[in-house]
This record gives sequence, structure tokens and C-alpha cells, in this order.
Amino acid sequence: MTKRIRKAVFPVAGLGTRFLPATKSIPKEMLTVVDRPVLQHVVDEAKEAGIEHFVFVTGRGKAVIEDHFDMSYELEDTLQKRGKKKEYDALMADLPAAGATSFTRQQAPLGLGHAVWCARDIVGDEPFAVLLPDMVTMAGAKKSRCLAQCVEAYDRYGGNIIAVEEVPPEETHQYGVVSIGKDEGHTFEITGMVEKPPKGTAPSTSIISGRYILGPEIFKILETQERGAGGEIQLTDGMKSLAKNQGFHGVRFDGRTYDTGSKLGFLMANAAFALASPELAGPYKAELKKLLG
Ligand code: G1P
Repeated sequence: MTKRIRKAVFPVAGLGTRFLPATKSIPKEMLTVVDRPVLQHVVDEAKEAGIEHFVFVTGRGKAVIEDHFDMSYELEDTLQKRGKKKEYDALMADLPAAGATSFTRQQAPLGLGHAVWCARDIVGDEPFAVLLPDMVTMAGAKKSRCLAQCVEAYDRYGGNIIAVEEVPPEETHQYGVVSIGKDEGHTFEITGMVEKPPKGTAPSTSIISGRYILGPEIFKILETQERGAGGEIQLTDGMKSLAKNQGFHGVRFDGRTYDTGSKLGFLMANAAFALASPELAGPYKAELKKLLG
């Protein structure tokens, strides 16, 4: 029997340099895809996968993230007094249960592996999920988002799970890349991984796409993990060490992933979510047609 995945870590300390000047005073995770902050979409995905405790690894200048997941007394009071029940109910539906969030700070930008390690005491001795907030996913035919599909794979295989995506060969150097062993289509055995392989050296075109389920043993490894690609403490390097003793499986997500950390990915996410909204799809399409001439 596998343990239930109850906790998820959201590394949200990144500076958002790819999105300046928008992210000068607003955390990149709070930019919106239609009317929800990017991070809210990712938290929604975690909730859908059964996550009960949300651990945010933040940094300086990110305090509004904590406010977003708290009550907003004045706003809520005003909405109620003005009879704006729909808006009030929507805010309440998104509010995490009391005590279901934790916030810790990564004091210096030392890399993703270091950010995840910062959550060690809050996660404790149980398997947990990691969701990179830049990546916003949308359900495909399976009607579940990426983390739910990872949890399904975890219930089947145990061990550790990494979601992957296919990218063109010329883009693999920007990501973590996995080697593929026994392949069952939707899932496969991971036999190796490398962070940001130099151009032309990637073992496959399957990149690590920002959803993980990891055993707590990763924390001990990350504690002494040396700096890797880009001079940063890399989660991929830690996972590589863990893979010497524990199984890793890959999940090919049935759905779409948008990298909202890039300008084009952010625009595509907005377009995709607008087109999926019953209220916006019609008028949005009409306006797009006009724009495209
Ligand atoms: C991180 C991970 C990398 C992964 C990528 C997905 O890299 O280290 O393995 O492929 O996220 O976006 P970063 O984007 O922080 O450079």
C-alpha cells in the first residue's frame, strides 16, 4: 500500500526575470491567466489531486501570496453588505481550510533543489508532491490535470513520479531531461536524468515538466547536494542520487501544459483558458477574428 499524498510544495521564490518589468513589484505567480492568478490555477490542480496541505517556499517581496490565500475581511464584508453573493461565494470556495497552508522563505536564490529542501521540516517524513508554479496545466480527454495523473501512477508503482512533456530536440538544453526504460505508453520507467544537458547531448526529448511526487529521503540528499547546472543546487541532481535506491516512473500527461514563465506560454495560457470559458469563448473568438483580419 502506498501512502496518501497529502502535502504539496510550491517553490515560489523565483525572481521572474523573464517577465520584467511586470514582475518588478508583483510576484510572477500572481500574474493572471484570465481572472485567476497563475498560482491559484496550480493550487486548484493540487486540490483536485487530493492535496490537503499547501507549502509555499516564498522569498522577499512575495508577501501578497500569503495574503491571497487568507481571508480578506474588508473585501468580504463589503461584498456581503452589497449583496454580491456570487463573488463572495467564489472567494470562500477558493479559501484554503484553516491551517492548511504553510509559508517558509528561501533566503537566497540557490536553486530549485535548495527551495524544495527549505520545506523539509514542514513536509516531514512522508511522500509529497512538488508543483512548479510556472507550469499551468489544462485537462485533456482524461478530464484530470497533471498532478492527479501523477498520483494515479504513484498509487500503481509507488516510489517517485515525474511528469514529462515532449519538446523539439533544439529545446532540450533548457530543461531537465529523462532517459526512458520499460515503456507502457502513458507511463514509463525512468532510467536516468540530466539537468540542462548541453545542446545535442540530451538522452531523449522528454523533459521534466514541473510536477513531481517524491519520497522524503530526497531531503537528506538535498542537504549536501553540490551545485550543478547554472551554479544552482538542482532538484534533478538530487533525484538522480535517489534513483540509485528507489524507482522513478514518468507520466506523459494527457492534456496541455503552458509555461507561463515565458511570454508566449503566458499568452497561450490566457488564450486557451479564455477559449475554454463558457462565458468568454464566443466574444473572445469574435474579437480574435477581427484582430487577425
Ligand atoms: C526547472 C527544473 C527542470 C525542469 C523545468 C521545467 O528548471 O530544474 O528540470 O525541466 O523547471 O520548467 P528551471 O525552469 O527552473 O530552469
